[in-house]
Amino acid sequence: MTGRTTPQVPRITRDEWNEQFGSGRWDYLAEGPEQARYAAICARIRTARAASVLDVGCGAGVLRDHLGDYFSGRYLGIDWSHTVLAKRIRRRDEWLLCADASRLPLRGSFDTVVLSEVLYYLDEPLSAIARMLDLVAPGGQLLISLYQPSADRHPDWHSLIADLDRDVRAMGDTAHQLVTGHSRRNWLLHVITREEQR
Ligand SMILES: C[S@@+](CC[C@H](N)C(=O)[O-])C[C@H]1O[C@@H](n2cnc3c(N)ncnc32)[C@H](O)[C@@H]1O
Repeated sequence: MTGRTTPQVPRITRDEWNEQFGSGRWDYLAEGPEQARYAAICARIRTARAASVLDVGCGAGVLRDHLGDYFSGRYLGIDWSHTVLAKRIRRRDEWLLCADASRLPLRGSFDTVVLSEVLYYLDEPLSAIARMLDLVAPGGQLLISLYQPSADRHPDWHSLIADLDRDVRAMGDTAHQLVTGHSRRNWLLHVITREEQR
């Protein structure tokens, strides 16, 4: 872990997330170019034959919808926005929890833990990664997707996220993959695997 201050994008408070989900600000996640990102995450879950998934900052549960019926394992989605969780029509085989990812009231282990477009909203992202890795079962994986803003259009975001990408790689990223949606929207999907035995 690096000693330097970790980059952060502008804070969005919990109330603001509730407001934004209430106004439909994030509805676009369920359509268009973003689907390439969910597909890449699902492919990793499928390839790893994960039987349990923890989706931290799950939002509207779009990832669970993408997993579809082929996934018959345990799915737990956590988000601190009660507004977005209340909107979700819960599947019979999923669990949802309203909680702050910085203070997760969880023990146990999951074959896959996902941070899909969430990491840069969390306080102390590198500490958050360490906490998430503690929830990964031996031999399991932590998947982190990070939007790659264009350097021309969003120079500040670009350099913040480039720093964060570097830090995540330094934490043991084993297989990052560039995912491209149409309209030139790109994400980096980091995979950090936990050793079988520690
Ligand atoms: C850009 S959305 C991504 C939603 C979802 N992961 C997806 O890819 O569709 C970020 C999500 O992180 C959640 N979030 C942000 N900070 C959080 C925190 N401290 N604890 C739990 N959830 C948080 C927000 O409420 C929001 O649902």
